[in-house]
Amino acid sequence: MASDLAGATSSCPGASAKRGPPLKRHFLSTLDWSLDELDDLLARALRIKRGESTPDFRGKVMALLFFNASMRTRVSFEAGLARFGGHALYVQPSRDTYVFEHREGVVMDGPTQEHVKEAAPVLARYVHAVGIRKSDLVTPAATTAEVSGTWKELRADDFMRTYARHSPAPVINLESNYEHPCQELADRMTLREKLGETRGKKYVLTWTWHPKSLPLATPHSQLLSASGLGMNVVHLRPEGYDLDPDVVATAKKRAEATGGSLEITDDIDAAYAGAHAVCAKSYGSIKSWGHFEKERKDKEPLRPRWIVDSDKMGRTDDAIFMHCLPIRRNVKATDAVLDGERSVVVDQAENRMWAQVALLERLFQEFQEMERERRMP
Ligand code: CP
Repeated sequence: MASDLAGATSSCPGASAKRGPPLKRHFLSTLDWSLDELDDLLARALRIKRGESTPDFRGKVMALLFFNASMRTRVSFEAGLARFGGHALYVQPSRDTYVFEHREGVVMDGPTQEHVKEAAPVLARYVHAVGIRKSDLVTPAATTAEVSGTWKELRADDFMRTYARHSPAPVINLESNYEHPCQELADRMTLREKLGETRGKKYVLTWTWHPKSLPLATPHSQLLSASGLGMNVVHLRPEGYDLDPDVVATAKKRAEATGGSLEITDDIDAAYAGAHAVCAKSYGSIKSWGHFEKERKDKEPLRPRWIVDSDKMGRTDDAIFMHCLPIRRNVKATDAVLDGERSVVVDQAENRMWAQVALLERLFQEFQEMERERRMP
């Protein structure tokens, strides 16, 4: 199971040659972490969940910067910290703070008032970790009408990465345009917990119809979640709804390195046949990026077939049903599926908290070591 596919650690800015393994200051992407490290985190999360180990977060403070709405991410971090003696500060940038700038060399005589070059190191003097949710496709509007930037621009997650570069404190990605790595951790944990031995089992990530063009971060992370567990991963989607090619390539490498496989198909019947886990996700098309109104009309005929229902779940090998939540009932999955015995969506949401507690424990420890070194070189 163990592999070091994604262990590109030497470029980590916290790396220190004299102290053995390089430090990982941030959790922006699981692609920066090896599968061994992710496995260790999950093992730790399961122990904490079972009450076999108790982290000590006394005196630890985390700032949560939410540019977008959230229920699970916000509350699971706040609750996870509070349960073990720590504290979280919920901050809505621009409403609770000045308007942040992250671009280099900008003459700040417009709407932006504070550069992350100051904001990030200042916050790091107060808190021990910073979480950032910034997704340009998450909008409260009924339809996805306008997004500033091409996919090529948005996938770079410029704000979050620039912030992290200037932050001595660890930065956790709470969902960017490209990835939702905390969801990935929780989904990996849920697959392990529910399926036991995951090797050789079949995981289906299915696109589902939705009126809006939703973000790609979560399906990216869901594809990655199953791909490092030795599973036979099937990405079921209609033509035109492929995920980012770099994510697909990494998922394929991870799947093959752990004895599994990755297949991409639009054959609904074949995909569901014999599946052990079905994960539903709606997302917008990279191919028709920016033409959201056209996409909405074009995908209307897909609506009746691209929903998870009892008939499809009946073709599986008693598969568990997964979704990151929130979910629009009877749009992405029927009431019968969500209310059925094989739906694990609430357990999956609970695992967000345990996985993140294990992550915080590690990041706090590394930050403490770095701070000690900084003060006493
Ligand atoms: N799954 C997830 O990230 O949920 P929230 O948007 O409620 O945080």
